[in-house]
Amino acid sequence: MGISNKVSEIKEKLSELGQDHILNFYSELNKAEHEGLLKQIQSIDLNEFQSQVDRLVLANEKDADLDWDALKPADYIPLPENGGDTALWEQAKAKGEKAIKEGRVAAFTVAGGQGTRLGYEGPKGTFSITPLSDKSLFEVFANKITRASERYGVRIPWFIMTSEINHEATIEAFEANNYFGMPKESLFFFSQALFPAVDLNGKMLLEEKGQCVMTPNGHGGSLRALVDSGAIEKMRSEGIDILSYFQVDNPLVPCIDPAFIGFHILNQSELSSKMIPKAYPLEKVGVFCQYEGSNLVVEYSDMPEAMQEQLDEEGGILFRSGSVAIHLFDRDFIERVGSTSSEDKLPYHKALKKIPFINASGVREVPEKANGVKFEMFVFDALSKANNPVIVEGLRNDNFSPVKNAEGIDSPESCQNDLLKQAIRWLKAVGVEVASNSESLEAKDFPFEINYRFAMDKDDFINQWNSLSDKPSIQSGTIIE
Ligand code: UD1
Repeated sequence: MGISNKVSEIKEKLSELGQDHILNFYSELNKAEHEGLLKQIQSIDLNEFQSQVDRLVLANEKDADLDWDALKPADYIPLPENGGDTALWEQAKAKGEKAIKEGRVAAFTVAGGQGTRLGYEGPKGTFSITPLSDKSLFEVFANKITRASERYGVRIPWFIMTSEINHEATIEAFEANNYFGMPKESLFFFSQALFPAVDLNGKMLLEEKGQCVMTPNGHGGSLRALVDSGAIEKMRSEGIDILSYFQVDNPLVPCIDPAFIGFHILNQSELSSKMIPKAYPLEKVGVFCQYEGSNLVVEYSDMPEAMQEQLDEEGGILFRSGSVAIHLFDRDFIERVGSTSSEDKLPYHKALKKIPFINASGVREVPEKANGVKFEMFVFDALSKANNPVIVEGLRNDNFSPVKNAEGIDSPESCQNDLLKQAIRWLKAVGVEVASNSESLEAKDFPFEINYRFAMDKDDFINQWNSLSDKPSIQSGTIIE
């Protein structure tokens, strides 16, 4: 098809949808800008886009329109120390270790977000987090995966999802750091898709005269991106059927968790999730619930406060199962939900945002209040589509301490303190008391580290420590590696 035919076809489609204003400046653009704009528009599934605009913006459909009285806390498998069956946990761990050794498991990080709250320029994974060695979030994960590979005698691949906004910079960071010691062939980078943002009347916005405002389509976009990028095909060809999913903001995550993997297999689960009991009722995490016969995550911002504060008979938080964005996905399940032809597509959600744009007179405006809507899919919406989903309890201090804000809760400082607490606990497990006041130590006063290249979890640490003939004395400034 000739270029002018292509333009008129796109123009016709856009005008049918009431979105042809994005071509208002077309005559002012040069050839490269023309091509760029057309390519961008062609990358959008316009019918899908417009149906989301109609539903979420024009009809103003609510995000969580639930019958709150019908919502129940989700069931989960408790830790042995909280009443779980110790023998079952042992069995799960053995099952998981076997699957890892057989090469069935790969790690997967979603790192396509914009990371605006932290106020850090550059891909969030390049943010330095360890107190002494200044390792980035990416390097911490690489250390854990490398140690798991070594411990189980198997190459564990790592899939990393970026988005157009940080793809090149992410790959450059890996290259510049020699892939953080991982074999290059173990790494697979791919970008998630973008989705147009609109104004409050549902009209697409322009970033430049020849460019629409497009934002990453949410971590739920990872399922499509895994299929479209060929990652699923690669998993199949390498005999991998379990993907260990985690977010780039959480360095405490066990990237490869044998017992969790074992429960996933024992239950023939298509999607397993880690839960951590909420630290306090209004903690800003999603909550696992049961609704109309399936599990789902209700976002903290959607659940009424009174429900978040409701107590059970023992005085604990009733809706206590915090979702910390740690999951295990079955490969074929991803393919089922992530394929373009899937009937089981994830829904979009809307978020009101301040979005700078080019106005009708061609002038850039930077709004002071929310003027637009961006659309995202959430990966946990796949829960209701999965067969035999299981939720497994995790210990907070071995699983979750995200870096989201520059200061205060979920900040680099709180995360470094949690990394220190974990190291102190692991040392206690081998009979080493770091200091008499170890409970109240803070990373800034007593920086020391366990390199995850040395040990990936507490069990591993106990074995590794016991095998050291020359045990280091632990002081401020020590790194165990
Ligand atoms: C998220 C969860 C929340 C959970 C919490 C745990 C949502 C809506 N909420 O909150 O239930 O309790 O984490 O820390 O997700 N990302 C992409 N592409 C995107 C958007 C995000 O890859 O298009 C990635 C980010 O890079 C990051 C992760 O997803 O790794 C989380 O994104 P973020 O938007 O920061 O989630 P939260 O609101 O903190």
